Amino acid sequence: MAEASHSWPAHVAVIMDGNGRWAKQRNLPRIEGHRAGIKSVQSVVESCRTLGIRYLTLYAFSVENWKRPRKEISGLMALLYDYLTSEIPRLHRDAVRLRAIGQLDRLPRRVSQQFRRIMEKTASHRGLTLILALSYGGRTEILDAVREIAKERKKGREQGGEVTPEILSRHLYAPDVPPPDLLIRTSGERRLSNFLLWESARSQLYFAPQMWPDFGGEQFEKVIVEARKARESGERIEA
Ligand code: IPE
Ligand code: IPE
Ligand code: MG
Repeated sequence: MAEASHSWPAHVAVIMDGNGRWAKQRNLPRIEGHRAGIKSVQSVVESCRTLGIRYLTLYAFSVENWKRPRKEISGLMALLYDYLTSEIPRLHRDAVRLRAIGQLDRLPRRVSQQFRRIMEKTASHRGLTLILALSYGGRTEILDAVREIAKERKKGREQGGEVTPEILSRHLYAPDVPPPDLLIRTSGERRLSNFLLWESARSQLYFAPQMWPDFGGEQFEKVIVEARKARESGERIEA
């Protein structure tokens, strides 16, 4: 594994947007945009190793995305299953640890089972931690944390007193993962779309004009290099 020469950014989060538009521009069905997007996922994961990034969170499916046409959802789930299955050898080769945030139980059974199986098998890997946000919503995550705290207190498991930001952080989906240093969204849209609302409170934001299938490892590396330079010189990153 490539040695990390930089410690910043330790965690990069990406809103992978623009698959549908990429397909439309080519007169292809939307699902072909999602298929092309998987290649970008693979090359960005690969780039994280060379760049020495420890955590990569990818927004793959939001709670709002359940409102999409049923055919698109089933196509996306099938692609997700195939991606996970074909990725197993590479995850082991590169010591990638797979994690998930979101409502895994809402996914089709075979997808969530495959996901849990791979998470278990890669749990001891010490390379990149790849976190997929699936059926994820930032507000839902915060609400789930609040509900969990209330439940624990009712049972008397936790001491009463004030609920602090630290206590809330400990009840999020991945409490051991540091917050994202840098959050990238592709396709030129400048929205958070309910992504990591609590965790991104202090993140640097970067909006890339390319559609996700056109945003591969090469673009990703450029953004990281630029963000590092800007950070070193104390400047803001150009959007
Ligand atoms: C992002 O691409 C991928 C998912 C939300 C699964 P979109 O499907 O949102 O593509 P656009 O934004 O319609 O172009
Ligand atoms: C955000 O993209 C969700 C993912 C990338 C998974 P969307 O395309 O779903 O978000 P909106 O609808 O433009 O806000
Ligand atoms: Mg979109």
